[in-house]
Amino acid sequence: MKKITLAAMAATFLLGSSMLAMAEVKSLRGDLPLDAKAKPPHKARVMSKSGGYKRAWKLQPPLIPHKIDKERISLDENSCFRCHAPDTYKAEKAPMISKSHFKDPEHPSDKNFIRRRWFCYQCHVPQVEAKPLVENVFGQ
Ligand code: HEC
Ligand code: HEC
Repeated sequence: MKKITLAAMAATFLLGSSMLAMAEVKSLRGDLPLDAKAKPPHKARVMSKSGGYKRAWKLQPPLIPHKIDKERISLDENSCFRCHAPDTYKAEKAPMISKSHFKDPEHPSDKNFIRRRWFCYQCHVPQVEAKPLVENVFGQ
């Protein structure tokens, strides 16, 4: 008798907790059946800031102060070099890619660019006009 009660209690508990877990799982597209169309996510516009953004600390990778939707970075193509490379930046009035990104910082050229830094977005990102998801007190 005692055994049955315990088993029943355990079953009730398991059922209850799995239902609770099910209620907590929420997908990013909302509680919608697979064949229903979700509301498209809000797309924020990338901001342009003349003069660039102030760095929050000395060695911060500077934020990108312009649009990047037309830029392309793939295995063998990087359109950022069109304006930021050692031999193009002057004509484009853009800051040159930091000397720290070259194997020979005193003679920077496309040939001695450090390939580990090829995917600029690893460190440099643009900004959008958006409400922060959480409060940020960095630097305060
Ligand atoms: C058409 C030319 C052009 C292209 C292409 C371009 N940029 Fe720029 N970029 C600029 C100019 C001009 C500035 C300076 C803007 C200003 O300060 O007003 C700038 C500024 C920046 C800065 C800020 C530097 C600092 O010290 O504040 C970063 C970072 C940057 N660009 C990264 C990129 C990356 C990464 C790409 C490729 C995805 C890219 N840019 C493509 C022209 C370009
Ligand atoms: C691993 C991180 C990393 C990657 C990848 C990277 N950068 Fe940077 N970048 C930095 C940091 C950190 C700084 C600031 C400190 C410095 O100059 O080294 C910087 C500085 C810069 C600056 C400012 C130079 C100045 O004089 O103000 C430009 C422009 C820039 N990077 C462009 C690029 C471009 C274009 C790419 C891709 C081809 C790229 N970076 C890839 C980390 C990175």
